[in-house]
Amino acid sequence: MPTIHYILKDGTTRAVDAKIGASVMETAIRGNVRGIDAECGGCCSCATCHVYVDDAFLELLPPPDDMESALLDAVASERQPSSRLSCQLNVSAALDGLTVRVPDTQV
Ligand code: FES
Repeated sequence: MPTIHYILKDGTTRAVDAKIGASVMETAIRGNVRGIDAECGGCCSCATCHVYVDDAFLELLPPPDDMESALLDAVASERQPSSRLSCQLNVSAALDGLTVRVPDTQV
């Protein structure tokens, strides 16, 4: 079972076991990770599941599609090259150890 690491606003890291096929957002919610609001429930319409992906894992992810990219322009914290919407990132075995940082704010 892959493990996803979430770096929280206070600098601590939470490790959550993830189900293959679940999103990084769903894994965070199930693991009670604070700072990922996910107000739309994963419909790619709220931009409150923003995370910064560790550079080491960026190449393993498919690039954001047009809808995700448009929403990333509207995130509350600064968009960076590593910015992604965690509801659009599906866990696979290759993503074991994926590390994402929660932004300062989602709203
Ligand atoms: S949960 Fe709303 S865009 Fe990801």
